[in-house]
Order: sequence, then C-alpha cells, then structure tokens
Amino acid sequence: MIITPIKIQGKKTKLVPHIIENIDLTDNTIWVEPFLGSGEVLFNVNPNKAIVSDNNKLIIDFYKKIQTKKISSQIVREFLEEHGKKLEDIGEQYYYEMRDIFNKTHDPLYFLFLNRSCFNGMIRFNSKKEFNVPFCKKENRFAKAYITKIVNQVKKIEDIILSHGDNWQFICCDWKETFNKYKNNKNAFFYFDPPYINRNSDYFNKWEEKENNDFFNTIKNNQINFILSNWYSNKYRNNDVIINNFENNQFTIVKIDHFYHVGGKEANRNSIIECLIKNKDE
Ligand SMILES: C[S@@+](CC[C@H](N)C(=O)[O-])C[C@H]1O[C@@H](n2cnc3c(N)ncnc32)[C@H](O)[C@@H]1O
Repeated sequence: MIITPIKIQGKKTKLVPHIIENIDLTDNTIWVEPFLGSGEVLFNVNPNKAIVSDNNKLIIDFYKKIQTKKISSQIVREFLEEHGKKLEDIGEQYYYEMRDIFNKTHDPLYFLFLNRSCFNGMIRFNSKKEFNVPFCKKENRFAKAYITKIVNQVKKIEDIILSHGDNWQFICCDWKETFNKYKNNKNAFFYFDPPYINRNSDYFNKWEEKENNDFFNTIKNNQINFILSNWYSNKYRNNDVIINNFENNQFTIVKIDHFYHVGGKEANRNSIIECLIKNKDE
C-alpha cells in the first residue's frame, strides 16, 4: 500500500482496497480522477494512463514539480532538515513565519512542511484563500524518524510518477473541465471523490448542495464508466441524496464500513458507512 506524503481530510486510504476490487482496467484505460486530493487512490491503482486534476493548485503543483524533477525526495529531505531544525530552535512562532511565507509564495515545499506539522493534517483556507490551519504542537516536530518517513513517502511517489513519463498528467482545474474533456472518450474510466456536503467542505472552495446536485445529475446523465465514493449512512441518518440519485437499476451501490481519522470536529470522526457507486454490470 502506498501512503502519499500529503495529508488531507477525506483521504481514502481505507477505501483503496475496495476501490481496486471494484474496478476492471485494461492497458488502454485512461484513469480520469477529477478530485485528486492526496492522490492516494491514483498511486495505489497505478494505471498506465492517467488524467488527474483538482482545483487545489498546491496539491497539483507539488506533483507537477516532482514530475518535472524540480522537487525530489533529496530536496525534500534537505528542506525539512533545515526548517525542522529552525522550528525546534525558534519554536511555534517559526511555523507561523513559514505559513506567512507560504501564503505569499505558494511554494510546494513550504506546503509540505505546513501540511506535515499543522493541526490534524488538515488543508483549509480562509476567504482570502490563505492557508489558516494552526500548528500541531509536538516536541521535536520534525524528528529524524519523521523526516525519513516523509522522504520515503515522497521517494515512492517520485519513482512511480517518473516511471509513467507523459502518460500521467496533473492538471489544476474544476472537475467539470476534466469531465467535459473526457466524457466522450470510450477509454476513459472516471473515479470521483467529491467533497461531502456539510462535511470536510473547506478545501479550496466550498462544495454546496447546488454544485453537488449539478455534479450528480451530470454523471448520471452521461454514458460514462465510473466509480464514485461517498457516504451512505451514519448513526443518525441515511444520505438521501445518494439513495435518491443512485439506488436504481442503472447503478450498483457497494456499502463499506469506514472510520474517519482526519477532521477537526469530533463529530466528523464518527464511524460511517461509506459507499462505492458504479455502473451496473451489463
Ligand atoms: C474528498 S477530497 C479527495 C480525497 C482523495 N480521494 C484522497 O484520497 O486523498 C476532495 C477533493 O476535491 C477537491 N475539490 C473540491 N471542489 C472541487 C472542484 N469544484 N473541482 C475540482 N476539485 C475540487 C478538493 O480540493 C479535494 O482535494
């Protein structure tokens, strides 16, 4: 199992084996993933061809810079050692200095530093699009073993990205753009992992009911091959939007128990039933 170096709320680590079990790719399949997030699903599925996108420029930039060799695991090591030491010497205030610099430069290495030392591994922005997650206090935040762990994670994804050359493309754009480009391509297989309404929704933009409805209608009404992950029910209620849209003879809903680790609110950490929605087998 590949664990990617980027932490994000809604990361689908535990769903990966279920996703793999429910897809059937050929050598010609183009894996199209318009809500890439940390890339955990992409790297574990490891398709020959992939078009992956997200409207979070920071994530896409990070992967693109690895692809163009502007960032390597060695560069990550040097960066984290240097700034991890300063954080240790200066203290918490240094995290906020790094955050200020990052909000001006959007440098992916600063992003990684913040992402791996911020509270709960969240990615959250304020209305001015500034990263605003506080520091996660811990003695020796970037201890040697922690840096090695991150560097090894980067090394694994670096090797995979470079092995695919131009067959993998990382694009920063809205999901609709990627969807429209590939909806008529018979080799395209879509994996969708949109934000959940009223949960995990402070990514780069808000994900509101209207956008969610538009998204569900779009994927339902086009003849595409896809798998969609979402939540099916929690201990209080069912996800009626999913049930109303997909519980019919066109789609199969596979239900899976899941537990959320990442999330600011205690309420978001309850166990929920996740689901995978896919086209009915012909
Ligand atoms: C649930 S997360 C995906 C998590 C991912 N599957 C993983 O395992 O890490 C949803 C992603 O959708 C992105 N997103 C939100 N609104 C979007 C939009 N309108 N267009 C494209 N991406 C969007 C967010 O930036 C976030 O990375």
